[in-house]
Amino acid sequence: MTTDQKKEALKNLKAEMEADKSLPLRDQATQLVFGEGNPDTKIYFLGEAPGFYEDREGRPFIGQAGKLLSQLIESIGFKREDVYISNVVRFRPPENRDPEPEELATFAPYVDREIEIIDPKLFVTLGRFSMGKFLPGAKISQVHGKIQRVRWRGKEITVVPMYHPAAALRNGAVMQQLKEDFKVIPQALAEVDKPKTEQLTLV
Ligand code: URA
Repeated sequence: MTTDQKKEALKNLKAEMEADKSLPLRDQATQLVFGEGNPDTKIYFLGEAPGFYEDREGRPFIGQAGKLLSQLIESIGFKREDVYISNVVRFRPPENRDPEPEELATFAPYVDREIEIIDPKLFVTLGRFSMGKFLPGAKISQVHGKIQRVRWRGKEITVVPMYHPAAALRNGAVMQQLKEDFKVIPQALAEVDKPKTEQLTLV
């Protein structure tokens, strides 16, 4: 897909979600919070759910956790606009409670379609709920910052699970770890960009 085709497809997907009255959490929320960023990015960041400010403004990761996320992205030489930032749940849960399994399941087909349009090379999950999409059953304390090659919907993909920035804001040790883990992203990108060994053998 060209950039314009991707933009159009994302616009249509957002409109479809806005019209889908079966989506949970809609009644208590102000508005849908869709993903945003560069549709041609290699890196797709996947968070949990909108909070107070995201709900008010209709944009993902713009509160305190979002500011930290932007700084972390800049710490590895990218700008926020270079990447794509999204969430597994698109309406704010009341009092920012954890998403329920049925809620995650109802949003999932839309998240999958967004991923299909963007077709990123690298998935960075923020927190355990987005990690669970690609690595069900994994423990974040064991896999954070480690490059994971997984088979997902018939495709080999690369995922780097990370702690959620909001958790880092609450705990200094998690903050240190998250900053360290971000340094893995350039390395993971270099690996996904590397030609496959089989191709090298043919040359
Ligand atoms: N936390 C998230 O997981 N997503 C947001 O968009 C904001 C905060």
